[in-house]
Amino acid sequence: MRSLALLSFVSTALAATYSLSDNHVGPDFLTSFTHEAIPDPTSGRVNYVDQATATAQNLTFTSPDSLVLRADATTTLTPTGPGRNSVRIKSVKTYTTHVSVYDIRHMPQGLSTWPAAWEVQEDGWPAGGEVDILEGANDVAPNQSTLHTAAGCTMPDGRAETGTPVSEDCGDSAGPNLGCGVHAPTTNSYGTAFNAAGGGWYAMERTPDFVKVWFWSRGDASVPADVSGNTGSVDTDNWGEPTAYFPNTDCNLASHFGQNNIIFDLTLCGDWAGAVYNSDGCSGDCVTYVNENPSAFSNAYWDIGFVRVYE
Ligand SMILES: *[C@@H]1O[C@H](CO)[C@@H](O)[C@H](O)[C@H]1NC(C)=O
Ligand SMILES: *[C@@H]1O[C@H](CO)[C@@H](O)[C@H](O)[C@H]1NC(C)=O
Repeated sequence: MRSLALLSFVSTALAATYSLSDNHVGPDFLTSFTHEAIPDPTSGRVNYVDQATATAQNLTFTSPDSLVLRADATTTLTPTGPGRNSVRIKSVKTYTTHVSVYDIRHMPQGLSTWPAAWEVQEDGWPAGGEVDILEGANDVAPNQSTLHTAAGCTMPDGRAETGTPVSEDCGDSAGPNLGCGVHAPTTNSYGTAFNAAGGGWYAMERTPDFVKVWFWSRGDASVPADVSGNTGSVDTDNWGEPTAYFPNTDCNLASHFGQNNIIFDLTLCGDWAGAVYNSDGCSGDCVTYVNENPSAFSNAYWDIGFVRVYE
């Protein structure tokens, strides 16, 4: 009995422990991710370029401990020509049950910007699920983490999370691309305030039972050592209440989520940032703003310290 009890204790204790599988840092991203030179599926005023073009134009830049991804900030566009050059990168590997930790120093800011760090199965979307870890539009709001699934996946009330739910139906029936989102409770989780604080860490844990997202600002003394440092493994039981919690209570996560890639992108205007451009307090026309104001995009860049994946 004693050894049985010990065994069951050990297996419970191991439940939230994961080992490092992939440590994406600096130049690693040039081989562990591919540049998706595709028409923007969200109709943004961007022209996603391939890796050779992105590195030649310094839209993608790596140093030993940094990956910078930016939109072009020098070219005035012709209204009838292609959109502003930008970058969308996707991990070669796919992940199912895992923890991913994102160290982000700077995220794209500026009117018309719609940056996202997310995990998704693009084929057959939304059948294979999508988790938006960090996403927003026009610097302002909403700064949110969101699940997108096929119909038949909803989130219960009263979840153990520090954020505020904005919608509970993760499936298509909620409307086009709406999903079930949770607003982060702190302003420094997004945009100019995030950048002014030196960014921070986002982390996501996905299992068949739940998806959790956490955020710690750069100066946050409560950031766990296995988030800020490379300790070879993580134990999410020590990370405290998540910012966003998506349990499988009314959603079969095992069937709604498949093999997901990690994607970073930066689009401009489009289905979200363009649609809310005026209601977010920006005047005029979003696409015209993008065409005519290259220098407005000098801070429209990601600076990513690392993405570590644990399984
Ligand atoms: C490329 O971008 C990086 C990151 O912003 C910057 O440090 C570097 O000076 C740029 N290189 C050139 C040639 O402009
Ligand atoms: C983030 O969301 C919270 C809650 O909705 C809001 O109070 C805050 O102003 C937002 N911050 C930004 C930068 O949008």
